[in-house]
Amino acid sequence: MNKKTVSDLTSLRGRTAFVTCDFNISLKNGKAVNNTRIVKALPTINYLLSRGCRVVLASHLGRPQGVDPQYSLKPVAAALTSLIKKPVRLINNFWDKSALREIDENRSGITLLENIRFFPGERENDQDFSRHLSQMADFFVNDAFGASHRVYASTVGITNYLPSVAGLLLDLEIRMLSKALNNPEKPFVIFIGGAKTPEKISVIEKLLDKADTIALGGAIANTFLAAWGFGLGQSMVDYEMVEMARVVFWKATRIHSALVLPVDVMIQANGGKALPRVSDYDKVPNGSAIYDIGPATVNIYCKLLKGAGTVIWNGPMGFYENKHYKKGTDSILKEITRARAFSIVGGGDTLSCLDKKDYFDKISHVSTGGSAMLEFMKEGTLPGIEVLLDK
Ligand code: ADP
Ligand code: 3PG
Ligand code: MG
Repeated sequence: MNKKTVSDLTSLRGRTAFVTCDFNISLKNGKAVNNTRIVKALPTINYLLSRGCRVVLASHLGRPQGVDPQYSLKPVAAALTSLIKKPVRLINNFWDKSALREIDENRSGITLLENIRFFPGERENDQDFSRHLSQMADFFVNDAFGASHRVYASTVGITNYLPSVAGLLLDLEIRMLSKALNNPEKPFVIFIGGAKTPEKISVIEKLLDKADTIALGGAIANTFLAAWGFGLGQSMVDYEMVEMARVVFWKATRIHSALVLPVDVMIQANGGKALPRVSDYDKVPNGSAIYDIGPATVNIYCKLLKGAGTVIWNGPMGFYENKHYKKGTDSILKEITRARAFSIVGGGDTLSCLDKKDYFDKISHVSTGGSAMLEFMKEGTLPGIEVLLDK
């Protein structure tokens, strides 16, 4: 990477770092259910602390409109305290001038600012707000890969006022994704699933130039099947994206790359208690909906995985929240962990499917980025990376 990182900084002792992280984690009953994003931020925090540096941490959680207690970072502060084994002080009203004193007094410890999106200045990338944040520290560290596609005060604005470098997680994400995208061991196979068709379809279009095969599952595959003119009953289809899907097909044929769709699917009769059943992709009855890829498709996709040199996967293969429709996603996941390929898995919902520790050990890189990972795959950089100091 051509950007400076915390490892390039000398004489850290006694200085204060403002570190933006992506602690946007899933909560259940006020507790962190999946703290992957917190755990992955620890190397940077510990690196700074162990070199005598003080840290002020900032992050968003969800998309609150103003101050909203259900989006408080309290559960994050609790998780951090137990992981770092040092008290983490959560500061509420840090926009207030008096908060600067409070932060200063806590300079010997670790300060976590309350959800940065409680303040409109964050999303407006407001310069006064950015300057206020910069007054809390001597330098800025961006470790929030998952939020680096956002041009906000804590990712971009603050860099106007402080020397700014990448954290160790951001650096790792960039290196791993660049390795896969710029110099992939072939065959390079990409799996895209999930439901966010508009943002994913442009990534597919772009990656056709790089990948040998792009295999689709989830609701996005439905939109591509609809582009062939098949009736898909009540399945989730993004009809506004059907024309774009045709363009992507056309591009795939023109450059001789393979765009692979499910050959069979799991369907359920609309609203009924009917059990899921297998259907060919072109025989979905009017009243039924596709909720997963079928067994023949799983076989084809697993064969692709077995032979792959590099694999990137984003987006579940089906409606995985329902146990009847989790099989496609689980089978692909299991095969990725067995494959010899260099593998990267990322995406908000995709990470929720990694429910065994084993999975983390056997995947080359679990990315903390959702949309950020996709945008990086498309553009090769992100706004929050571009503004950091060059090496
Ligand atoms: P990620 O967060 O990993 O990028 P997305 O947000 O794009 O993934 O998509 C995840 C959502 O897609 C899940 O809620 C899942 O239930 C839904 N989904 C996947 N396949 C289908 C399908 N066939 N029908 C309805 N919903 C689906
Ligand atoms: C994510 O979960 O993808 C990141 O934390 C970014 O969240 P956002 O889409 O609300 O900006
Ligand atoms: Mg999602």
